[in-house]
Amino acid sequence: MILDVNMTKVQVNDEDLDKSLLSFLRENLFLTGAKDGCGRGLCGACTVLAGTRAVRSCITPVRKVANKRILTIEGLAGEKDMHPLQKAFLEHGAVQCGFCTPGMIMSSLALLLKNPAPGPDEVKKALKGNLCRCTGYQPIVESVLAAAEEIRNKNIEIIGGRPKAGRETNRR
Ligand code: FES
Ligand code: FES
Repeated sequence: MILDVNMTKVQVNDEDLDKSLLSFLRENLFLTGAKDGCGRGLCGACTVLAGTRAVRSCITPVRKVANKRILTIEGLAGEKDMHPLQKAFLEHGAVQCGFCTPGMIMSSLALLLKNPAPGPDEVKKALKGNLCRCTGYQPIVESVLAAAEEIRNKNIEIIGGRPKAGRETNRR
């Protein structure tokens, strides 16, 4: 089976089909951004995108995402710059130990793909399955709102982090 991970085609051997996507990413591909927090689908630290959906990679077998594009935190930044979500998390003090951050950002990305202009309650709801022991959550919510605003104002691709081609940017 071939899996698309961060826009790269990856061969999956039969013996790895029933592995968790998290183990496959970390052990086979050495993509260690998604974290193994609980291993039971409870903390969100392992969240990646499968297509446009956030999935908990610790409880998702590789075979289940066979035809989906997988995006991990390593594939999020543009060639030259961080993604607006990554920048906003840094600027708003939403990263302390950083263990939850990749999962938080990937869940936030899934939200923005569905709803580019969420309110605070929608952000909280989208992130309710992602646990953080350090920040108290408020800086994280503020980061997502700020990133969403930047993405809208600058007309940036939500995946890719680049200005959309052929359209005027709408800087304030
Ligand atoms: S490590 Fe997957 S949800 Fe906690
Ligand atoms: S920043 Fe430490 S767990 Fe969230």
